[in-house]
Amino acid sequence: MSRLPRQQEGEEVAPLPTDTGPQERTRREFLRSATLFTATVAGLGGGLELLTRRPSGAAEAQTAAVTRKRVLGPYDTSEPLTSYQSITTYNNFYEFGLGKDDPSQNAGSLRTRPWTVRIDGEVRKPQTVDIDTLQGWFPLEDRVYRMRCVEAWSMVIPWMGFPLAALMRRVEPTSKAKYVKFTALLDPKQMPGQRSRVLDWPYTEGLRLDEALHPLAFLAVGIDGKILPNQNGAPLRLVVPWKYGFKNIKSIVRISLVSEMPKTTWALAAPDEYGFYANVNPAVDHPRWSQATERRIGEVARRRTLPFNGYAESVAGLYKGMDLRRNF
Ligand code: MTE
Repeated sequence: MSRLPRQQEGEEVAPLPTDTGPQERTRREFLRSATLFTATVAGLGGGLELLTRRPSGAAEAQTAAVTRKRVLGPYDTSEPLTSYQSITTYNNFYEFGLGKDDPSQNAGSLRTRPWTVRIDGEVRKPQTVDIDTLQGWFPLEDRVYRMRCVEAWSMVIPWMGFPLAALMRRVEPTSKAKYVKFTALLDPKQMPGQRSRVLDWPYTEGLRLDEALHPLAFLAVGIDGKILPNQNGAPLRLVVPWKYGFKNIKSIVRISLVSEMPKTTWALAAPDEYGFYANVNPAVDHPRWSQATERRIGEVARRRTLPFNGYAESVAGLYKGMDLRRNF
């Protein structure tokens, strides 16, 4: 992003170690079968406590068999997953420092229980709800999505959570609701990065209501069958895979339905560089680097970046008639 001291945006960094050893493969296979096991159980109406269950013995063999038969859902990519190690140690979470490895080292200070989410503004059912109650409202789903950071790196991440649209419907937006504003936790005691004014805290993000209602828009509470690690935005984070990663606000405490386009953190910090829409667009370069290609974490060669991060077929219609250069 605009204020990285140790590494310039868009600049190559040493590739993270790839998972090649047989031991690592076994671990990954186990993690995947665990994911499927918990996803299946949770999908049948269980709660998040099931995310921490692990299959063992016969159950493990059974889930391995199920894994082979796994049918990808309509929203999943079949591309190879980024290693869990990379997903959870190469992060952007400025509340815990500006370096990629700072969040995994520092986010232990974040207390994610008890945790409440305030839902308010233009809704018929404003309320403050405990995170465990909130996620118990919806069956948990697996979603394997690409994530493309505006810094020109990308990952493939197996999220677990529920569609944002399901939550929107539950709180019943009024006819005045046009946008959704998300606010992250503000607590410099728990979030040491907030003691410096590197950004205007708390971190805020927003979507147009029709974007929020799109079936790809997702609220994640887990990754790879496990409860969301703090560094990835526990206990609740937004995932909008056709947009640059900074839209995916972490550690959400408030969701407000509003009538005007909300001011969002990065658009306020550097309005010429980060827009409200932030749709992945290889044709519109960042003022300081190209967005035409990206570095998939764990790979050596660069990939071409796809319009809307490869989700154009699903989402391009949301922007019909809009000038996406002006509305970047
Ligand atoms: N959310 C908060 N609250 N604070 C942040 O600094 N960084 C964003 C986004 N969400 C950020 C945030 C950026 S720039 C990216 S690329 C993604 O989180 C990174 O998510 P990841 O660390 O899980 O890969």
